[in-house]
Amino acid sequence: MSYQLTDSFGRIINNMRISVTDRCNFRCQYCMPEEGMVWMKKNELLTFEEIERTVQIVARLGVSKIRLTGGEPLMRKELPLLVQKIARIPEVHDIALTTNGYFLTEQAVDLYNAGLKRITVSMDSLDASKFAEVTRRDYFDNVWTGLDLLQTLPIGPIKINVVLMRGVNEDEIEKFAGLARTRPFIIRFIEYMPIGAGDGWDYSKVVPTREIIARIEEHFPKLVPVEYHGAQPADRFRFEDGKGELGFISSVSEPFCSHCNRIRITSDGKLRTCLFSLHETDLKSMLRSGESDESISRAIVAAVWKKEEGHLINQPGFVKPQRTMSQIGG
Ligand code: 5AD
Ligand code: SF4
Repeated sequence: MSYQLTDSFGRIINNMRISVTDRCNFRCQYCMPEEGMVWMKKNELLTFEEIERTVQIVARLGVSKIRLTGGEPLMRKELPLLVQKIARIPEVHDIALTTNGYFLTEQAVDLYNAGLKRITVSMDSLDASKFAEVTRRDYFDNVWTGLDLLQTLPIGPIKINVVLMRGVNEDEIEKFAGLARTRPFIIRFIEYMPIGAGDGWDYSKVVPTREIIARIEEHFPKLVPVEYHGAQPADRFRFEDGKGELGFISSVSEPFCSHCNRIRITSDGKLRTCLFSLHETDLKSMLRSGESDESISRAIVAAVWKKEEGHLINQPGFVKPQRTMSQIGG
């Protein structure tokens, strides 16, 4: 039996999210402030070779699923080259990407040819002016064209992430649910989470999953569970008449921490064992100071063993991580 990376709560870690840049051409309200973002310098970012080596090390420890995130990952030059390097690692069975969709028209074909298997696109409104309000950029048409192109490629299933905010885009629940019935998309509603300074979060802005489901069931055929709190954070549902699929990520109202199978690496090479970690392990220094694979591997095993039991969003004394979501990678 091959190695399994486990933590002290018995969770098996087989999934790693890699942030390849903190930069983004959007300024989503819930992710970063409108102005004043200071980006990492190029030499602070892990190189493709350093990322490849890190993936080789974790792959030997049992990580078989990789997702590239940002910031906006497609802002990292020549990303298909990195996809190719990762896709070549034999233990990696799944390589996916989460993107704002802006550069898909330019890059989707190259990404597919490089070995990318699945794409998730963030799309918080189906109305161009509301989209511009949420993302602070008037790029609705660019993203929509990218989604059209994706449907012509054998990349799938295409997932769409929707972060609902009370009083902002909650009136689009039915429109998004309808989209899952007319297009081959899995629409995933994500509860708004408190991350990083200036995210504008407060509890009253969270639209809880049970409310979203209730509203959908008023308009459409009943939802039938496909998967409930399996290895994935999303509870998946299909409609009773079989047309379309929805996912719900109830990070705030019903955290899935006890099933969490993932770790993260920031673009500057820090290992985070939780989205909400207050502590990081500096892999970049190890990679750059001539440490052996064995020694880096031991550091990863030790950090993962101490993976946090869960986040404390709903408890008094909760402390937000210093990094914004764009610096962690979502
Ligand atoms: N709460 C919930 N989801 C968020 N994302 C970014 N910031 C937040 C937040 N505060 C989502 C993005 C993207 C994914 C990587 O994380 O919409 O789809
Ligand atoms: Fe950019 Fe994604 Fe953050 Fe929006 S949520 S500003 S697209 S990194």
